[in-house]
Amino acid sequence: MSQPVRIGLIGCGGISRHHAQAVLSLGDEQVLIVATCDVDLSLARARAEQTGAEFVTTDWREVVEHSQVDAVDICLPHDLHAEVAIAAAEAGKHIFVEKPIATTLEDGWRMVHAARRADVRLMVAFVERFEAENQRTKQLLDEGWLGVPVLAQVDHLQDVFIPPGHWARDRERLGGGAIASAGCHRIDLLRWFIGEVEWVSAETYYNPERMQGEIAGVVNMQFTTGALATLSISWMSPYRAFYRKLWLEGTEGCVHNWNGLHIFSRRRPEWSEGFVRLDVEAIDPFAAEMRHFVECVREGKQPLTNGEDALRSQAVAIASYESERTGCRVRPAHLLSQALEGLE
Ligand SMILES: NC(=O)c1ccc[n+]([C@@H]2O[C@H](COP(=O)([O-])OP(=O)(O)OC[C@H]3O[C@@H](n4cnc5c(N)ncnc54)[C@H](O)[C@@H]3O)[C@@H](O)[C@H]2O)c1
Repeated sequence: MSQPVRIGLIGCGGISRHHAQAVLSLGDEQVLIVATCDVDLSLARARAEQTGAEFVTTDWREVVEHSQVDAVDICLPHDLHAEVAIAAAEAGKHIFVEKPIATTLEDGWRMVHAARRADVRLMVAFVERFEAENQRTKQLLDEGWLGVPVLAQVDHLQDVFIPPGHWARDRERLGGGAIASAGCHRIDLLRWFIGEVEWVSAETYYNPERMQGEIAGVVNMQFTTGALATLSISWMSPYRAFYRKLWLEGTEGCVHNWNGLHIFSRRRPEWSEGFVRLDVEAIDPFAAEMRHFVECVREGKQPLTNGEDALRSQAVAIASYESERTGCRVRPAHLLSQALEGLE
């Protein structure tokens, strides 16, 4: 495909502004937004003004069926991801959808299946994989400076105030709470760094005045390699700055991201005396993930964060709820195969 990818943006709330900026930064030889949609027409119009989109609507079906749209960018409440993505695939459109893939594993699988059947790309927006420090960490792991991963600690500490009446307060619409909604970013990152998760156990904290799903949680994971990881997440952190710790240890070295990315490695003399801060060039992760999606559409490649992969991350998040409910360790792969039983 040598023409630019023409995108229909569906859902013009908070995150869509970053997606629109990312598209604009790549330039209209590669990608452009030709249609915007939101049930709130003023938001759809505002995003059209920002991007130059000519078609504006409150009905997502009109975007999915639009002959000038090659791909949809879905920035909707989580419970709407599946319906819109499946309709888009059936109309032959490629799909870029915000995380998490869906609120249930069954719905996520239906999205994967619809995209496969229609031979369209399905990418889930796990933007943390496109952040410079995380890309560098992955490179350090792949080059062997850390040896074999043994232990990881990741945090997501944020003060998220969800206004009364907003969809994200509703556990069903969000597909859980903070773990499924934002913790899935960190789970995705850990899977990228370490591999598949064998076992999950979790504890959660609720504050019903702020949301129905858990507002904080701790998820312990053991990977198929034997490596261990802990995710701590809070959406009621009193310290307002958004903080995401990464501490990753292997048999030969470790990295952490406290005040910049630092490495210690026994395998390199200049990194073996103590932690050394690495120079990591900042990149716009939203632009980087959009560039990747556009490349995948134009070159027919599978996205790094494709639907199948996102479904495995979601299985880990859902396993943490099952663990909390039963008080037992839960295997995400088992949950996934149970959910897919009887589905096409
Ligand atoms: N990557 C990140 O860091 C990040 C951050 C925030 C949100 N997100 C994700 O982005 C997605 C959207 O979240 P948000 O924060 O932008 O939410 P939001 O509530 O700000 O925006 C959602 C928009 O969808 C519109 N909408 C609802 N139902 C609709 C329908 N049937 N048809 C058309 N429009 C409809 C709403 O009017 C709203 O403007 C979610 O998947 C969320 O998890 C990702």
